[in-house]
Amino acid sequence: MKFFAFALPLAATLLPLVNSAFVCENEKVVSTSYIGATKDVKSSFVSCSNSLVPSPQLASNASTNVCGANCTTNCFTPSGGGPDPNDCQVISNALLYETNNSVPTFNATLNTTGVYMQYQTCETFFLNQATTNLTYCNQDWAQVVEYVAFNCQATQNAHGGNCVADDQRWFIQVQTANATSSS
Ligand SMILES: *[C@@H]1O[C@H](CO)[C@@H](O)[C@H](O)[C@H]1NC(C)=O
Ligand SMILES: *[C@@H]1O[C@H](CO)[C@@H](O)[C@H](O)[C@H]1NC(C)=O
Ligand SMILES: *[C@@H]1O[C@H](CO)[C@@H](O)[C@H](O)[C@H]1NC(C)=O
Ligand SMILES: *[C@@H]1O[C@H](CO)[C@@H](O)[C@H](O)[C@H]1NC(C)=O
Ligand SMILES: *[C@@H]1O[C@H](CO)[C@@H](O)[C@H](O)[C@H]1NC(C)=O
Ligand SMILES: *[C@@H]1O[C@H](CO)[C@@H](O)[C@H](O)[C@H]1NC(C)=O
Ligand SMILES: *[C@@H]1O[C@H](CO)[C@@H](O)[C@H](O)[C@H]1NC(C)=O
Repeated sequence: MKFFAFALPLAATLLPLVNSAFVCENEKVVSTSYIGATKDVKSSFVSCSNSLVPSPQLASNASTNVCGANCTTNCFTPSGGGPDPNDCQVISNALLYETNNSVPTFNATLNTTGVYMQYQTCETFFLNQATTNLTYCNQDWAQVVEYVAFNCQATQNAHGGNCVADDQRWFIQVQTANATSSS
């Protein structure tokens, strides 16, 4: 899996949010659980009123298991107010813990907008914008959240970022947890 390249912006018609954060509007939490060894990472399936309309240009006949697929990192500028990467690392460890304890994958289904993970200042979510349900691996998410958190910091003039699948069917965002909606 490659997730470290910083690519040129992708075609705006496919994904206009590459260099800006997706903001969930009218967030509705469908279900919540707590993961990790100490069960302190909040995991929620969330619905937003502004869920993205799947584009017909997105791959439709490719495998719905997207574990190991490449994604490209984009940092959100400017610096200031990003998540503490050490909090993101706690999420990463919790995802690895789940993998180690027989929960290697999760389903990002079409009836929800995204799968959210939050620990203190750090929030990350996986958003499915394909026309099918997708299955993704916790181990891969663990790597992506850690990479984006530590490489989209103030020294990169950034405050978090995303990693967009090369085929555009999904992306992972890493951002500062919203104290209001995560409480
Ligand atoms: C998907 O469809 C395209 C064009 O219809 C075809 O070239 C490609 O081999 C297909 N891919 C898979 C995984 O079936
Ligand atoms: C990911 O990117 C690498 C380097 O460009 C490439 O060698 C590899 O085949 C890609 N993997 C997938 C699953 O597309
Ligand atoms: C998961 O298992 C690997 C291999 O046994 C181990 O190195 C790692 O520390 C474990 N991680 C967690 C978070 O449990
Ligand atoms: C994901 O969806 C597949 C296919 O519908 C199903 O077999 C599997 O049990 C689901 N996994 C989880 C973790 O819900
Ligand atoms: C997606 O997954 C949900 C929940 O498992 C299931 O109810 C639904 O039928 C699936 N949709 C498709 C298009 O497979
Ligand atoms: C909606 O998605 C959640 C999370 O994947 C799943 O647990 C639930 O079964 C789905 N509900 C329906 C009606 O498909
Ligand atoms: C959280 O979200 C609400 C509603 O979108 C917004 O008004 C508020 O400023 C946000 N709080 C933080 C700490 O970002």
